[in-house]
Amino acid sequence: MSDIALDEKLDTLDPLRHLRNNDELDLIPAQPPSIHNQTIELAFPSSDDPEAYRIKLSVDASPGCGGIAWPAGEVLSRYISRKGGLKGKNILELGSGTGLVGLVAGLLGANVWITDQSPLLDIMARNVELNALQDHVVVKELNWGEPVPQDLLDIDMILAADCVYFEPAFPLLVQTLKDLAAGRNSDILFCYKKRRKADKRFFALLKKEFNWSEVLDDPDRENYHREAISLLRLTRKH
Ligand SMILES: C[S@@+](CC[C@H](N)C(=O)[O-])C[C@H]1O[C@@H](n2cnc3c(N)ncnc32)[C@H](O)[C@@H]1O
Repeated sequence: MSDIALDEKLDTLDPLRHLRNNDELDLIPAQPPSIHNQTIELAFPSSDDPEAYRIKLSVDASPGCGGIAWPAGEVLSRYISRKGGLKGKNILELGSGTGLVGLVAGLLGANVWITDQSPLLDIMARNVELNALQDHVVVKELNWGEPVPQDLLDIDMILAADCVYFEPAFPLLVQTLKDLAAGRNSDILFCYKKRRKADKRFFALLKKEFNWSEVLDDPDRENYHREAISLLRLTRKH
């Protein structure tokens, strides 16, 4: 069996194996995955106040790895909160997990769809309620690779954080990004934590459809680079 086939087989048997046990980089998430039903509070900056926005977040690892807040999600949340200017924008978040990034966008006045697979929908809905953001944030199931519902195609901005970790999902994620970007030229912010060499295969697939550049105007950039996190802006090729 080739290395790639073996990797894929192991991924299918244990999707989280790279997050638990990695010999290339430190993978420990912000909270240990043993977390059950806790509520945390996180603060995010505006341009002049380091703690301008507060989000209450229910975290619970039982529905899957997305039930806790991941470092790339916090990086992307901080970037959009400091930048601001999202009032009235239509924003879609992919692989939202707890919904953190989308909730921050909703708090800034955007109309947001937070999306993920069905086991995560309850925790996302709980977090929308906890922050009284029902008027701004809608929870929706969106499985990568499946057709994108029509109402999600008129989007100004697409956000994704820490969505590169499970190899069989790489082509599905690229397909969904491509489908979403086909409608109009949405701004796509993609926050990524490098975990292993195989991630190169995701970028090889992505390269067929998108160009990307690093977001350079983030004052936190040096800090999260040390944790192998990058914030990218994607633009579609065709
Ligand atoms: C590592 S978590 C990141 C969660 C969140 N974005 C954050 O930064 O805290 C990856 C998320 O991608 C979601 N995901 C994985 N495969 C997916 C798929 N095929 N379709 C939709 N979402 C998926 C998971 O359910 C999970 O919530």
